[in-house]
Amino acid sequence: MTQITMTRTTALLPPHGGVLINRFLPEPERRAQQQRAHTLKRLTLDQWNVSDVEMIAVGAFSPLEGFMGRDDYESVLERGRLASGLPWTIPITLAVGREEAVRLDRGEDVALADASGRILALLHLEEKYAADKTREALRVFGTTDQAHPGVARLFRIGEIYLAGKISLLDRPPHRYQKYLLDPADARRLFQEKGWKRIVGFQTRNPIHRAHEYLQKCALEIADGLFLHPLVGETKSDDIPTEVRMRCYEVLLERYYPRDRVVLAIYPAAMRYAGPREAIFHALVRKNYGCTHFIVGRDHAGVGRYYGSFDAHRIFDDFDPSEIGITPLFFDNAFYCRRCDGMATSKTCPHAESDRLTLSGTDVRNLLRQGKPLPPEFTRPEVAEVLAQAFRG
Ligand code: ADX
Repeated sequence: MTQITMTRTTALLPPHGGVLINRFLPEPERRAQQQRAHTLKRLTLDQWNVSDVEMIAVGAFSPLEGFMGRDDYESVLERGRLASGLPWTIPITLAVGREEAVRLDRGEDVALADASGRILALLHLEEKYAADKTREALRVFGTTDQAHPGVARLFRIGEIYLAGKISLLDRPPHRYQKYLLDPADARRLFQEKGWKRIVGFQTRNPIHRAHEYLQKCALEIADGLFLHPLVGETKSDDIPTEVRMRCYEVLLERYYPRDRVVLAIYPAAMRYAGPREAIFHALVRKNYGCTHFIVGRDHAGVGRYYGSFDAHRIFDDFDPSEIGITPLFFDNAFYCRRCDGMATSKTCPHAESDRLTLSGTDVRNLLRQGKPLPPEFTRPEVAEVLAQAFRG
């Protein structure tokens, strides 16, 4: 009798633009180019640029193969699309000062190094053009106010953008190596697990119960949760990565089914671009293989620059088939004393005064004063990690 063996394969969503980009140079070319790189003009990158280089190289920013040229930049600012018409809402650019730009010629390869002098990649310099910072700030962040961290950075960096494909020579090191999962690895893992519906969760904060509520609501209709905390550059008063990682670990250990969650780091910089960054975050998670993506209240927001649900509305500017990944929108979530549980205004009929909501600032103030975080807001195990971090 012939034995029929069935391998369970699932068709994941294709990456954005159809092809998962890989800009790692294969051996032995990598070694040869690494030697050559020492003879080339060198550019020192900041941490933000380093993370962009890595994200491009691993395909997280597919279909980008390098830093954007003027046509893509203009099109992203004006239409939220690449010049090809593909949705893309955040400029991925490499800025240098005017003198530095003069030193570099179009057509040449430039060695990209980190602050320690380690050469990470080559930039095949195709184009140099002037940034239009005021317009960029208005289009991307909706403000020119330099109290906005994304705008502040934009006005701090150089005036000229360098564009061209990159080739990765040496990967930046990661403290959380065991949680490093590239898009191709994540896709493979989801297929091995037989997951068809994978919901991605972006976060830059320790997980509180509202986050947990969103994730678990989503998990009711998905096969798996891809918990994907951003660990690249964040603003100085956000909770440090080490503390957040510990929070995720204790929470997953105690409150989540082990076989339905994958925790992996997202080593990109936080832009705080609200609605535009929500689209960007969703497209990136599609590249990692997610089919769904959670967008809650004030996604990627900061201060009062965006309306609480602007990051939902921006999805109406695109045809769902162009975005590919399905956004899961959530209202403001909170603990309601009368419901005696987590809810949102969609599911809870009670008054504001029955609801417990704490802002990031409230939480930091409680922690600074050595006061306990209420268990309705944060799981006690997470509260303990945070309290310890603030005690120092
Ligand atoms: S973000 O800047 O990375 O988006 P954060 O880590 O605070 O911030 O949030 C992660 C996700 O949870 C975002 O989609 C955000 O909109 C959502 N979120 C955070 N808090 C709440 C809440 N209380 N109610 C609804 N959604 C929330």
